[in-house]
Amino acid sequence: MATTNPMPRFPAGFLWGVSTSAHQIEGAVDAREASVWDVFTAEPGRVRDGSTAAVACDHVHRHREDVALLAGLGVDAYRFSVSWPRVRAEGGLDFYDRLVDDLLAAGVRPVPTLFHWDLPAHLDWLERDTAERFAEHVARVVARLGDRVTKWITLNEPAEHTLLGHALGVHAPGRRLLFDALPVAHHQLLAHGLAVRALRAAGASDIGIANSHGPTWPASDDEADVAAADFYDTLLNRLFADPLLLGRYPEGVGELMPGDVEADLKIIAEPLDWYGINYYAPTRVGAPQGAEIEFGGVRMPAELPFSVREIEGYPVTDFGWPVVPEALTEVLTAFADRYGDRLAPVIVTENGCAYEGLDDTERVTYLDGHVRALHRAVEAGVDVRGYFVWSLLDNFEWAEGYGRRFGLVHVDFDTQRRTPKASYDWYRALLREQRD
Ligand code: FCB
Repeated sequence: MATTNPMPRFPAGFLWGVSTSAHQIEGAVDAREASVWDVFTAEPGRVRDGSTAAVACDHVHRHREDVALLAGLGVDAYRFSVSWPRVRAEGGLDFYDRLVDDLLAAGVRPVPTLFHWDLPAHLDWLERDTAERFAEHVARVVARLGDRVTKWITLNEPAEHTLLGHALGVHAPGRRLLFDALPVAHHQLLAHGLAVRALRAAGASDIGIANSHGPTWPASDDEADVAAADFYDTLLNRLFADPLLLGRYPEGVGELMPGDVEADLKIIAEPLDWYGINYYAPTRVGAPQGAEIEFGGVRMPAELPFSVREIEGYPVTDFGWPVVPEALTEVLTAFADRYGDRLAPVIVTENGCAYEGLDDTERVTYLDGHVRALHRAVEAGVDVRGYFVWSLLDNFEWAEGYGRRFGLVHVDFDTQRRTPKASYDWYRALLREQRD
């Protein structure tokens, strides 16, 4: 259960929100072009329960009801994503236009993410040109919504999109390129930089990115385990953050990237107004174990220079992810130490957990613990400006299908009935309390 100690107060102006993404909730697949996720989910065996996101939460048709749920919750802001394949379709931007108007009318600030993994099916992040195409997409969106939307997120978790989608092949587009996937990381970073320029050219001034980060714990003090953990830490916590915040790749990485890397880094390192961190759990990493292992539903090839290990001694979510609130404080303070004044103010753009049930006390415990851990980071001097729960609604959880429920609101996928869970009431009470 959540502790009964009063929740400490966050600084005035702290931004409280919830997050979703287009492919995971929108449905209305006929009113948009295909994305790599449509192609991927149509292939047998790709999604655990064989499902697709063709309907998902039918949010395009039910967005008014979902906006009412946001208003009832009392969040300051709603992070959603703009589907690039929908924007490309005739009238696709009209939907976001209405959504933004409805959010503003409900007193909720729209915070769109411009790419959350649903790449148009004819594009490919191995191609540099995709970065330019993305900048065009961004320019179209900001031209239409920029009179009302002031806060923007360029990309969501390019690290997972690279690793899971292109290196390990468990997410769309399902490629298993291992380290040959590195250009995908570079092109997404370049796309981010070009997007920042396009947004600024249109007058936007409140721009961030949502990167996934978390502490990497070595499996032991053994030199081989420490080196493997270091390597993994570079992939997860530095490969994307160093270029963005320091204008350079971690040692040895730049040489592996395509194109005129030095010139690209100048674009990639365009100053950010804030830096988004998605945090779920720490990772324990050791030396390679010499055989392909399965971890969290992901087959890890033997050739990788590390192996992911079980974290013991903590409760786990339905996804098997350990619940370690103090690791949120750890990752935030580590970021502040590593990047110092190069780190822009931080917003936690995702945090949440998968549990079944309407009376989701485990979710309440998870969120309560993490919000307190966040406050400890604020007390330690990290400039954190906001927190977004993943997610408003149960939704299509990528390769897991509908089997992992992250929502504050339960969705019955047969009837599309929405029912707020205990965690919804808990979050609403927290927001009220913080404003009193
Ligand atoms: C993050 C993704 C988000 C959701 C959560 C559970 O990695 O950004 O779309 O799937 O995990």
